[in-house]
Amino acid sequence: MKFFITGGSGLLGSRIATVADDEHELVLSHNSNPTDNTVKCDITDEDEVKKTIQKVKPDVIIHCAAMTNVDLCEDEIDTAYKVNGDATGYLAKASEDVDAKMIYVSTDFVFDGTKGNYKETDEVNPLGIYAKSKYDGEVQLQKYSNNWAIARVSVLYGWHERLNFTTWVIDELRKENEINIVTDQINSPTLADNAAEAMLEIAGQDKNGIYHTAGNDLISRYDFTRQIADVFDLDENLINPITSDKFIQKAPRPRDSSLNVNKIEKELDFKMETCEESLIRMRDCE
Ligand SMILES: NC(=O)c1ccc[n+]([C@@H]2O[C@H](COP(=O)([O-])OP(=O)(O)OC[C@H]3O[C@@H](n4cnc5c(N)ncnc54)[C@H](OP(=O)(O)O)[C@@H]3O)[C@@H](O)[C@H]2O)c1
Repeated sequence: MKFFITGGSGLLGSRIATVADDEHELVLSHNSNPTDNTVKCDITDEDEVKKTIQKVKPDVIIHCAAMTNVDLCEDEIDTAYKVNGDATGYLAKASEDVDAKMIYVSTDFVFDGTKGNYKETDEVNPLGIYAKSKYDGEVQLQKYSNNWAIARVSVLYGWHERLNFTTWVIDELRKENEINIVTDQINSPTLADNAAEAMLEIAGQDKNGIYHTAGNDLISRYDFTRQIADVFDLDENLINPITSDKFIQKAPRPRDSSLNVNKIEKELDFKMETCEESLIRMRDCE
């Protein structure tokens, strides 16, 4: 199968390349951070998207690229909607031209966090600009593609040259710095490798619809951080519990946007890992 992966220079895109079987052919793309194995494609340029997809002729597009800085999206609203919303529409149209399936990577932030343990059938209510623009991407995908899937993830982590939450925690604790972590935000932290495998499985089994491809835990940021310390044998006493009102962030955060992963586990017979399983796997491949 031939894949076109947007966001190939980012965390998830690069991990898809790592876990994909050799039998698959992958073309990865970047925008401003080229790597050895990526081609340039600015997804906000509709013409460039169309030409690239016509040239590559993939069987499946996995669309990982996004404006992922949640707080910056509050300041750069037009860019957030262009990258996360409109560009998803451009890719969906281009996928139809070549009869490709399109898998769009979305987020737990489409939910408002009042309930938690969200299923794919639960009603969305995105709070901030990042969340609203990512949801706009879900809408544009369904408007322009007839062969689509949405894969929602939460607090992505894994080895990558740019820091993510987990690698930042490991870095700080190894330097013996104290860190303040909120106790009242709950998610389903997701190892990028496990999410990548889930997306390849959705493609392989030719599934359509929405899937929660997240970590198999409903866990506070504080408890997750303690698990990181435990698995990586770091000092848990350096982790200070705080509440969100003491940690001012520009964009609103859902209180509990944890995701229920029963659907993918049952329908695709695919296992989403717990945080502990994923952290051990991450530690073992450092
Ligand atoms: N990170 C999380 O905690 C999290 C949580 C929930 C959902 N998600 C979703 O998961 C997906 C992957 O996230 P990630 O953490 O792997 O992302 P990331 O590491 O922040 O990488 C973002 C990627 O998007 C690309 N990109 C940005 N603007 C672009 C443009 N105009 N044209 C082409 N490419 C562009 C970047 O390319 P360059 O670097 O080359 O510019 C980069 O490859 C995203 O859709 C995100 O919304 C992430």
